Amino acid sequence: MSIGDQVASAVSALLAGHLVAFPTETVYGLGADATNEVAVSRIFRTKGRPTNHPLIVHLAGIDAVDMWARDLPEYAWALANAFWPGPMTLVVNKRAGVSSLVTGGQDTVGLRVPSHPVAVELLDEFARRGGQGVAAPSANRFGQVSPTSADDVRSELGEYLLPGDLIVEGGNSHVGVESSIIDCTGIAPAIARPGAITREMVEAATGVELMEFDQRIRVSGSHSRHYSPRAEVVLDDAVEQGDGLIALSEFPTPPGAIRLLEAPSVEAYASGVYSALRRADQLGLGRVVAMTPPGEGLAVAVRDRLVRASHRRAGPVEP
Ligand code: TXA
Ligand code: MG
Repeated sequence: MSIGDQVASAVSALLAGHLVAFPTETVYGLGADATNEVAVSRIFRTKGRPTNHPLIVHLAGIDAVDMWARDLPEYAWALANAFWPGPMTLVVNKRAGVSSLVTGGQDTVGLRVPSHPVAVELLDEFARRGGQGVAAPSANRFGQVSPTSADDVRSELGEYLLPGDLIVEGGNSHVGVESSIIDCTGIAPAIARPGAITREMVEAATGVELMEFDQRIRVSGSHSRHYSPRAEVVLDDAVEQGDGLIALSEFPTPPGAIRLLEAPSVEAYASGVYSALRRADQLGLGRVVAMTPPGEGLAVAVRDRLVRASHRRAGPVEP
């Protein structure tokens, strides 16, 4: 099916209350009409995700912000103008009437305008046909590695989708790690989840020095174990025979190790890290060693996800 036909079917499915997994430049999302509570509640069941975890509402453009949010500080508009469409979510005060299922019962709502051409087309068409926004978390089971291809979504959620639900094909998500989440409810922005829109970029666009993020705001990726495969993930450790290895290209593959990612840049590292973790599980590896990329910028987001992936499953189960 052509992209245009896929998008038309996907929008019809969304408007009829079905779920649609679709590509974004960060990872694939599992979308529902954000104004349809029955459809939104299916997102939680399909992911196995607790309902107190808020969802991001995806919009066709900055003009749609006022349908969802109120009292944005000036720096939030500066960020929206600088980085949308793109891999950034803004947490802002919600308007009265926004479903508390979407916001996890909070007074704030997460908004994002993605840039992936298929997502852009889908959200434009959804808006043209009267839709206001598409609520979408990453299209993985709760706590698992985010999908960066339609095949990943099928293997994560295929058995949980219902007739009428769709998966839109859109190639690989090139950023590869989830959007930066910027809390815009205080006097200055705060990064709640690092991503491709970096601290340096946020400070340059707003001219405001960042605040530290207040952990009282609930960000699902902030659970200490998240994004984790079945294999044990260890960071910056000696690589042994039979281990999977994820590292920048400059790091050689020791004999007997299974190279899962050989990234020529931090961007390539981010883009490939989740599929490398998935491949470890497909190969049935017991242990993966990840050599973390150094430095600031996007490397901060890559290290954040690797640290979460490295937390062992043993011990108390996360809520
Ligand atoms: O790149 C992304 O952001 C992807 C694509 C599909 O857009 N989505 C994504 O969604 O990663 P999810 O649900 O896996 O992670 C979204 C994060 C969650 O940690 C959630 O808690 C946080 O955004 N979030 C959403 N609304 C929020 C709010 N009102 N306050 C605080 N955190 C919020
Ligand atoms: Mg997620």
